Amino acid sequence: MTTRKLTGRLDGLAFGGDYNPEQWDEAVWAEDDELMRRARVNLATVGVFSWALLEPEEGRYDFAWLDAHLDRLHAGGVAVDLATPTASPPPWFTRAHPDALPVTAEGVRLVHGSRDTYCLAAPAYRDAARRVAAALAERYGRHPAVALWHVHNEYATLCFCDHAAAAFRTWLRDRHGTLDALNEAWGTAFWSQRYHSWDEVLPPRATQWHHNPGQSLDFRRFFSDVALAAYREQRDEIRAHSDRPVTTNLMLPGYQNLDLWAFGRELDFVTIDHYPDRPGLDAAADTAFGADRARSLGGGRPWLLMEQGANTVYAEGRVLPKDPGDIFRHTLGHIARGSDGALFFQWRQSKAGAETWHSAMVPHAGPDSRIFREVRALGEAVARLAEVAGSTVTAEVAVLHDAEAWWASEADGLPSPEPGYHSMLRRAHRALWDAGVVTDFAHPEHDLSRYRLVLAPALPLVTDAGAANLRRYVAGGGTLLLQHFGGVVDERPHARLGGYPAGPLREALGVRVEEPRPLRQGERVALSDGAHGTAWSEYLRLDGAEAVSAYTHGMLAGHPALTRHSFGDGRGWYLSTVLDTGDYGALVQRLLGEAGVVREWPPGVEAVTRGAWRFLLNHGGDAVPLPRAAHDLLTDGPLTELPPHGCAVLRMP
Ligand code: GLA
Repeated sequence: MTTRKLTGRLDGLAFGGDYNPEQWDEAVWAEDDELMRRARVNLATVGVFSWALLEPEEGRYDFAWLDAHLDRLHAGGVAVDLATPTASPPPWFTRAHPDALPVTAEGVRLVHGSRDTYCLAAPAYRDAARRVAAALAERYGRHPAVALWHVHNEYATLCFCDHAAAAFRTWLRDRHGTLDALNEAWGTAFWSQRYHSWDEVLPPRATQWHHNPGQSLDFRRFFSDVALAAYREQRDEIRAHSDRPVTTNLMLPGYQNLDLWAFGRELDFVTIDHYPDRPGLDAAADTAFGADRARSLGGGRPWLLMEQGANTVYAEGRVLPKDPGDIFRHTLGHIARGSDGALFFQWRQSKAGAETWHSAMVPHAGPDSRIFREVRALGEAVARLAEVAGSTVTAEVAVLHDAEAWWASEADGLPSPEPGYHSMLRRAHRALWDAGVVTDFAHPEHDLSRYRLVLAPALPLVTDAGAANLRRYVAGGGTLLLQHFGGVVDERPHARLGGYPAGPLREALGVRVEEPRPLRQGERVALSDGAHGTAWSEYLRLDGAEAVSAYTHGMLAGHPALTRHSFGDGRGWYLSTVLDTGDYGALVQRLLGEAGVVREWPPGVEAVTRGAWRFLLNHGGDAVPLPRAAHDLLTDGPLTELPPHGCAVLRMP
């Protein structure tokens, strides 16, 4: 971990967005300068998709245009987040190196024409990416405009080509040592899969039926490591010429090809792109979900919202407008939870090309528009929050997140694909958000002792070390809720024998699960306390725990559904079904109460303490009186009452 910080070079919080001046001409650049000044933009991300301009042919660089933009931005007081353009190789590259184009699991080689058409494991791609990063770093490493480096864009693309296969084999040798160990780990004794030569081992390409789960899981691990190695290579080239912080913008969507914890450890600070997938209150909750994850991935340090949308969200396959005020609320939601600023994709809406209809800070309509007026007001507000930069947020509650558990939950042949990993995490976080609680995400092997409550909504895979850590957490006084199908496999992933979950967790929870009993689609089960569950049930036996509620019908009638176990100084809870939203919310409230986490503000008010400031977002239609008058940074005046749907940032005494 380094001490390179964003805040060193910016006065206050960052505000701005992706800036692609190569799409425009001089008259527009002049207007950009003026509008950026009016909107108080102080950071522009430049060069994300500029490879074809920067290196028009292999090895020949054209920096003149970029020199001019950097100098112009600098003269206008706008710092630059300089990107390496490697997420979008130019046409000459893919013509020269067709073997570096990505191949899908089905064996289809994708062609140039979109972006992200490369295989991260292809040597020609990696060399070219490193070279262009080095050339940029050499030229701009000490440029006064450059405040930070933005390597690549949203690492995510998987590839199943022969380069990937060769690199996968090398990676497998490192991980497993011998072919015997690989055969054991993957359980190749079944279905005649035993490998006698490394050359027989392939990525999990399209096959006749279920993939081997060990092969699938190792491939995900491998590809995340490849992406991280690609990142590190570029970062190290940059560091050789520059003392500015280096990062890459992580995407935190409903699928995940990266071990984000591993990336978090390597970045000088975490940056994320965040586009809510639903409008309204759901978007506010999703904002908190993304922001809490970003903060957690960086170990609690300040992070940066690298991209958000000015007026649209992708929902149900549509580009839906954001309501007036939403840009402001979402931005404040991110800053409250530790972002040292807010950037957008992109500054000016493209008039042509693939993202013509993606929103921007300056829309097609120009500056005389609702959106630009909101952007300007937001720029003013962000500037007023300067003193918040660098401060941190602490949480009393954590939700467990582990990429390996996620990948394991996507294996073929599970008892049920429902409900998915991401939706379980969203649900847990949402229940805590609804309860007015700020949540961290944590890895099952992290030190959890600072949390009063830990929810493990989706943890099918847990290592021995993780299981022991969770047992220690409960014994030490923590409250843990493990949910259905938790701890059922180890890291290979082999089933835990003798009853689920893994041994140390069985001790902490005082239960032994004998039989997963997924429910049919749409089926609901009634529980003895009046709650209902869907998707899943289990036949489990008490081994020290008490049944808090039981199933009421069928084979499971009278058998425990929700259990509680006093263990050491703490409590281990186990929930074997997916409770209806209201019932789940009530359970989470009960756990918060038991763990001593108190809500300070009325429902509808999102309150986050960041350093010496309290951020308040009123999602309700009623004014909320403050317990005592306080200074609000947003209005730079005293505040006694939070207006309906209003926001405030209070300086605490
Ligand atoms: C991503 C990318 C941007 C842009 C936006 C659109 O986050 O990084 O280049 O495509 O999505 O939402």
